Amino acid sequence: MKGGIHRLKVSQFSLILIGFVCATVLVLAWTKTTLLTSLIPAQGRVLQLDQDESGPREILKGNDSSAQSDTKQEEPAASSGVVFSLEGENSKNLTTVERIDNPPSIIGEAESKEVSSGKSKQIKADTGLVAPKNTSSIESFSKREQTKNLSADTEKKDCNYAKGKWVFDDNRPLYSGFGCKQWLSSMWACRLTQRKDFEYEKLRWQPKQCKMDDFTGPKFLERMRDKTLAFIGDSLGRQQFQSLMCMVTGGEERSDVQDVGYEYGLVKARGAVRPDGWAYRFPNTNTTILYYWSASLCDIQPINISNPSTDFAMHLDRPPAFLHHYLHKFHVLVLNTGHHWNRGKLNANRWIMYVEGVPNTNRKIADIAGAKNFTIHSMVKWVNSQLPLHPGLKAFFRSISPRHFFNGDWNTGGTCDNTTPLSGGKEVLKDDSSDPLVAGAVSGTSVKFLDITALSELRDEGHISRYSIKATPGMQDCLHWCLPGVPDTWNEILFAQI
Ligand SMILES: *[C@@H]1O[C@H](CO)[C@@H](O)[C@H](O)[C@H]1NC(C)=O
Ligand SMILES: *[C@@H]1O[C@H](CO)[C@@H](O)[C@H](O)[C@H]1NC(C)=O
Ligand SMILES: *[C@@H]1O[C@H](CO)[C@@H](O)[C@H](O)[C@H]1NC(C)=O
Ligand SMILES: *[C@@H]1O[C@H](CO)[C@@H](O)[C@H](O)[C@H]1NC(C)=O
Ligand SMILES: *[C@@H]1O[C@H](CO)[C@@H](O)[C@H](O)[C@H]1NC(C)=O
Ligand SMILES: *[C@@H]1O[C@H](CO)[C@@H](O)[C@H](O)[C@H]1NC(C)=O
Ligand SMILES: *[C@@H]1O[C@H](CO)[C@@H](O)[C@H](O)[C@H]1NC(C)=O
Repeated sequence: MKGGIHRLKVSQFSLILIGFVCATVLVLAWTKTTLLTSLIPAQGRVLQLDQDESGPREILKGNDSSAQSDTKQEEPAASSGVVFSLEGENSKNLTTVERIDNPPSIIGEAESKEVSSGKSKQIKADTGLVAPKNTSSIESFSKREQTKNLSADTEKKDCNYAKGKWVFDDNRPLYSGFGCKQWLSSMWACRLTQRKDFEYEKLRWQPKQCKMDDFTGPKFLERMRDKTLAFIGDSLGRQQFQSLMCMVTGGEERSDVQDVGYEYGLVKARGAVRPDGWAYRFPNTNTTILYYWSASLCDIQPINISNPSTDFAMHLDRPPAFLHHYLHKFHVLVLNTGHHWNRGKLNANRWIMYVEGVPNTNRKIADIAGAKNFTIHSMVKWVNSQLPLHPGLKAFFRSISPRHFFNGDWNTGGTCDNTTPLSGGKEVLKDDSSDPLVAGAVSGTSVKFLDITALSELRDEGHISRYSIKATPGMQDCLHWCLPGVPDTWNEILFAQI
């Protein structure tokens, strides 16, 4: 009897499943992105925005010197605050780094800016960047869906890598935090700090519904033979990039890997602390992995090139010039943005919002949450419109990486002191993403969703915490992750889908 009921349930379930797939295909064929998008409950988005933004943060106390360093977009981090953003590459001594690397004068800064704006100008020389209204990409997407094998399709749709649980695994981590000095910034290598607990390195993500192929460097390289993988985003994107470099090499020194940054204009400008990104090639398989720093994920251009203290147009509806210029060379693209969207950072960078080439006047877009949403939607729309032109390209948008500041924020004594993994739970059971903003933007497009928010939310013990080599006493980095660590999992999930 029980078995009968069970069988009945299974067949009912299958029927429902088939019905669901058919319905989905039909809906995709008959509707446009906007309709699907509007089906996502708005409430969830608002919640997420609140959580993510936690209000405009005062990052810089208005001192010119700090504002300048942020203006240069000196990487990283700033997401959690300026404390971390000046961190020198692979350097243990803050004083030394600042003295050597930070151009001491305004002149130095102006130089670096001119160089980079000159570069951007060259890159930019071309056409309609604004996300086109052309729906052909959506149509072709629907067609592709219809002709695809329905059963294979079902499998894919059911497989949600974001659902699952963390398990302890002695085969983790995939590389040693003592090694990988070639690519891993020392500020993120927690093994090199005073930190003593390393339980957090021993966790593996096990999706509930999907079989996840074990990551190995050789497998990755074989799959990516003659291909290029590009990360474009903020410092969390850079973490994912460094993580992948370490995973692919197993953290071993590799003298054969070539620095091919120059092929992508990724060279250090005069007076700059670092280039805007890095590109490395594994010659045996001709595989290139690169990272480009674009915190806002939109195009930033100086308003008056000849003015050293110019404001910058932040073109919310245009992709970064770099992406536009090099997209045709990429086979896997991983985008992210999020933590730079606050008033303090926009002001400090002297970024002025532009839409359709002129300063924005639309009230809905003018507030930070609206601007961020508008930009993410514009980016996804643009990338989606490009996919039919680049059939070999798989594009992913990574969901937001959660912060874990307890009892305060980054600048008000917030901490992430917990060292016991999974004390807040180990499983993600819900179907909905914890990043409804990006989920809504990719919904109904061919841009894939790399949804890592909820699973990372369970890992509050995995941040740099107080051990940042350079953090000011009392300040903690509860935004960036220790490596090896959580971003390795993001790459495993990415690997499973490429
Ligand atoms: C800001 O800079 C001025 C000098 O330009 C200095 O006197 C002042 O102490 C600085 N304030 C802060 C908060 O750093
Ligand atoms: C950092 O460098 C400064 C100047 O070279 C030196 O005085 C200081 O002792 C160094 N600190 C550490 C922790 O190495
Ligand atoms: C839409 O884009 C396709 C190429 O992707 C092009 O062939 C077509 O002419 C465009 N249609 C319009 C209305 O712009
Ligand atoms: C399509 O489905 C059939 C069975 O339904 C299966 O034998 C075949 O391998 C599938 N093809 C692909 C490309 O998945
Ligand atoms: C390496 O891969 C790129 C594509 O990413 C291709 O254009 C190039 O010809 C390949 N080089 C060699 C030597 O095969
Ligand atoms: C651009 O900046 C230069 C130098 O500050 C200034 O002379 C010039 O008038 C500015 N141009 C415009 C259009 O504002
Ligand atoms: C985000 O932008 C999209 C597209 O413009 C819009 O449909 C959606 O309502 C916006 N969501 C929020 C939370 O503002």
